[in-house]
Amino acid sequence: MKILAVESYGQNAELSLLEAPESFPGRGEVKIQVEAVGLNPVDAYILSGNYALRPELPFVPAFDGAGEIVECGAGVSEFEVGQKVFFLRQTPGAAASRVVLPVDSVALLPEGLSVEEGACLGIPYATAQVALKKVGSWQPTDSVFIHGATGAVGGAAIDWLEYWRDNKNDAHPPIIASAGSKQGLERLLRRPSVSIVDHRDPEHLQQAAQFGNGEGIDLIVEMNAHWYLGKLPGLLAKEGRVVVVGNQGNAVLNARDLMVRHGSICGVFLFMVGAAERKRILSKIASAPAGTWNPEVREAVPFAQAGKAFRGLAAGETHPKWILKP
Ligand SMILES: NC(=O)c1ccc[n+]([C@@H]2O[C@H](COP(=O)([O-])OP(=O)(O)OC[C@H]3O[C@@H](n4cnc5c(N)ncnc54)[C@H](OP(=O)(O)O)[C@@H]3O)[C@@H](O)[C@H]2O)c1
Repeated sequence: MKILAVESYGQNAELSLLEAPESFPGRGEVKIQVEAVGLNPVDAYILSGNYALRPELPFVPAFDGAGEIVECGAGVSEFEVGQKVFFLRQTPGAAASRVVLPVDSVALLPEGLSVEEGACLGIPYATAQVALKKVGSWQPTDSVFIHGATGAVGGAAIDWLEYWRDNKNDAHPPIIASAGSKQGLERLLRRPSVSIVDHRDPEHLQQAAQFGNGEGIDLIVEMNAHWYLGKLPGLLAKEGRVVVVGNQGNAVLNARDLMVRHGSICGVFLFMVGAAERKRILSKIASAPAGTWNPEVREAVPFAQAGKAFRGLAAGETHPKWILKP
C-alpha cells in the first residue's frame, strides 16, 4: 500500500510517497480504503517540528479521513465491508491508501456528505462538541460567543448549536460569531442564526457583549486565547465560562473579573478524550440528518502534491480544508 511519509521537520519538511507492507485488522478493528484525508492546523504545527507532539521520523501525517470499509476484524458487528465511513485517529497516520483502526475511531459517513467532506469532520466537529458540551457545559438557555467562528472548529460549533436548538422554541438565546477575513464573513452571512462581529475592529468585544441579553455572555469559545484571554472574563454573565480551544502564547488577566461573576476559564485538548467518548461523539455526527453539517473543502490534491497543501496550511490557508487523495 501507499503511504505519505514525513522524512524531515521544518519549513522545508521533506515528504515522500513510499510503499509500505499491508496491515490486517485484529479484533475490534476495521481496514479502510482511504479516499480522502483532511488536513488541520495541527498537521502544520507537527510538520514544523516545534510542536509538543514530535513523532519519530519518518512518520505518516494527518488524523482525519474518509473512505470505504474493506475488511472487518473479529468481533466487529457494527460495520460491514462496502460501507462508507469517516475516521478520527488518536495519533497521526491517516495519509495512507489503507488504514487499520479500532472501531472507536470510525463512524458511518453522514447522509448527504461526500468522502472529501467526511474527511473534514473528525478533529473540528469532535473538538467543537467537547468544547461546548463536555467542557463548556452548554445549556439551551446559554448565549454563546464563538470568537473565531469562520474556521473549521468555529463553523462546526455553529453547526452543533443549530442542531441542538429546540425548534419549538423561537426565542433562542443569541449565537454571536466573529469573522475577520472577507471569505469568512461571507460564510457567516450565509448563517441566519448568528449575530456577526468583525474581529478586526478593536471594539468588537464590546459589540459582542451588546448582543448578549444585557447580563453578559454565558459561554465564550476562544480560538486565539494568547491575544484575548485577559479581556474575556469581563464579558461573562454570572457563572459564565470561557473555553479555550486555540492558544499560541501567554496571556495576562485580572482574576477579579472572574471572581465577581463566579466565572471560569477551561481548556480543551481533544486528545484527552478517551476511546469510548470519541466513539460516542463520532456516532452522534454520523447519525445527524442530511444538511446538519457544513464542512468546506478548499482543494483536493493527490498525495504526490501534498507539499502544496502543507505549504498552504503553514501559510494560513487552513479553512476551507485541504484534502489529500491517495
Ligand atoms: N484544543 C484542541 O484540541 C484543538 C483542536 C482543534 C483545533 N485547535 C486549535 O484551535 C484553533 C482553531 O482551529 P481551526 O481548525 O478552526 O482553525 P482555522 O480554521 O484556521 O480558524 C481560525 C479562526 O481564527 C480566526 N482569527 C484569525 N485571526 C483572528 C483575530 N485576530 N481575532 C479573532 N479571531 C481570529 C479566523 O477568522 P478569520 O480568518 O475570518 O480572520 C478563524 O475563524 C487553532 O489554533 C487550532 O490549532 C485546538
